[in-house]
Amino acid sequence: MKIIVVGATGTIGRAVVDELAVRHEIIKVGRKSGDVNVDITSTDSISKMYEAIGAFDALVSTTGSGYFGDFSTMTEAECYIGIRDKLMGQVNLVLIGRNYINDSGSFTLTSGVLSQDPVRGGAAMSMINAALDGFVVGASIELPKGIRINSVSPGVIQESMDQYASVFRGHEPVPVSKVARVYSKSVEGFLNGQIFRVY
Ligand SMILES: NC(=O)c1ccc[n+]([C@@H]2O[C@H](COP(=O)([O-])OP(=O)(O)OC[C@H]3O[C@@H](n4cnc5c(N)ncnc54)[C@H](OP(=O)(O)O)[C@@H]3O)[C@@H](O)[C@H]2O)c1
Repeated sequence: MKIIVVGATGTIGRAVVDELAVRHEIIKVGRKSGDVNVDITSTDSISKMYEAIGAFDALVSTTGSGYFGDFSTMTEAECYIGIRDKLMGQVNLVLIGRNYINDSGSFTLTSGVLSQDPVRGGAAMSMINAALDGFVVGASIELPKGIRINSVSPGVIQESMDQYASVFRGHEPVPVSKVARVYSKSVEGFLNGQIFRVY
């Protein structure tokens, strides 16, 4: 398969590339790194990415960020950071990618544990992760031509604990290689409309 990995140079993306590259052609995409560049906050940039790559069989998105911080002072503008980036960035990868994906292809997006198991400062990300999972469930029954869509909702990644340990006290870190195998299940398996929770 020809598989696009957006966020290929990140902590999760690198492991997904390692998992899939032994069996498939991988197009690595990042904002500044990779074979092709995209800024998922821009629909124009997403269209240019698909034009550059052409037809493909699967897209995996392991990217997206949003606001993390004190709830008592959180503003609407801070909520919109992640709505524009992690949420609509990934949704637009699907909406625009529909025009380029081959029949029986698949989209795999990334949400996260905060939709189910919140941490202090994470309200905006909890909202965005839940919205992404909802989009996947809804879109899965309407995509035509055997095209599938799933999300992977990882717990905090073991390899990211240097960065996140103080926020995720008590959470069970998940090895990134275990998470990567779930992306393989989404891409190489046959399930549709699933939220693969890995925590
Ligand atoms: N790490 C965790 O513990 C964890 C747990 C649960 C969920 N998640 C979710 O998993 C996803 C990936 O996390 P990660 O820790 O692997 O991220 P990461 O290490 O920070 O990597 C982010 C990747 O996304 C690319 N990127 C950043 N902004 C972009 C943009 N505007 N357009 C296109 N590409 C962009 C980066 O490319 P450049 O390097 O070129 O900028 C990089 O390849 C995120 O949605 C995160 O919320 C992470």
